[in-house]
Amino acid sequence: MSNIQCKVVIITGASSGIGEATAKELASKGAKLVLAARREDRLKKLQEEIQNNGGVAIYKVTDVTSHEQMEELAEVALKEFGKIDVLVNNAGLMPNSFLYMKKIDDWNRMIDVNIKGVLYGIAAVLPFMREQKSGHIINLSSVAGHFVGAASAVYAGTKFAVRAISEGLRKEEAANNIRSTIISPGMVKSELTESIDPNFKPMIDKMYEDAIEADSIARAIAFAIEQPSDVAINEMIIRPTSQER
Ligand SMILES: NC(=O)c1ccc[n+]([C@@H]2O[C@H](COP(=O)([O-])OP(=O)(O)OC[C@H]3O[C@@H](n4cnc5c(N)ncnc54)[C@H](OP(=O)(O)O)[C@@H]3O)[C@@H](O)[C@H]2O)c1
Repeated sequence: MSNIQCKVVIITGASSGIGEATAKELASKGAKLVLAARREDRLKKLQEEIQNNGGVAIYKVTDVTSHEQMEELAEVALKEFGKIDVLVNNAGLMPNSFLYMKKIDDWNRMIDVNIKGVLYGIAAVLPFMREQKSGHIINLSSVAGHFVGAASAVYAGTKFAVRAISEGLRKEEAANNIRSTIISPGMVKSELTESIDPNFKPMIDKMYEDAIEADSIARAIAFAIEQPSDVAINEMIIRPTSQER
């Protein structure tokens, strides 16, 4: 039996891109899924697709910037399935621009979703995982969590923060049998680049011609989950082969 079979997995940002691909991959391996994002129509469609393929999934409309909504999400998972084995903190956004442009609303949104959303996710599941004495928290960072590019200062800042938080979590919870994994994708086809300032979008679109499919990241996430419980895949970078940086 796969080590993913019957694991209860919460995925934030499940309505598109990497989150959606991860949901499909894990459902095909027998996980019980709790899908979260803001767009209900997308979540419902994904839930139906998973169920039609014999999988198990529920969804809860959730804004990760709300600590209360993240707590409710964990409660729904527990009520429906009785445990939480894995949280995939995947929701994120990347409205890149230069600092001088002072896109302060975009900075705040990135900090709220990419950093606080991850923290609220950890806060929501950690008490149950500590009680269970098992669990796995997977946080989506980025190649931008390793290298900073122009027009990416704030996004990269949030993704460096995700790595720092994940490493702190790893150290704090190692003794409680809670695994932590940092996933750092390079360029992946998704809706992520849609919020980029129109001044840069053509340049980014050109770069993203080499982007890999979101299921490449889904398979890496599945690999981390399916290891025996005494093996923690703490960090992975997954790029297109042709991506130099
Ligand atoms: N694609 C890449 O090249 C790439 C590279 C490195 C890292 N990443 C990271 O991978 C993760 C997934 O991104 P993606 O590429 O799959 O992009 P995507 O297709 O745009 O997906 C982003 C997801 O985040 C959700 N989301 C955004 N704000 C939210 C909020 N406030 N509350 C709840 N959900 C929210 C969106 O759902 P709703 O709008 O329905 O809420 C959507 O499902 C992100 O953390 C991203 O930074 C992506």
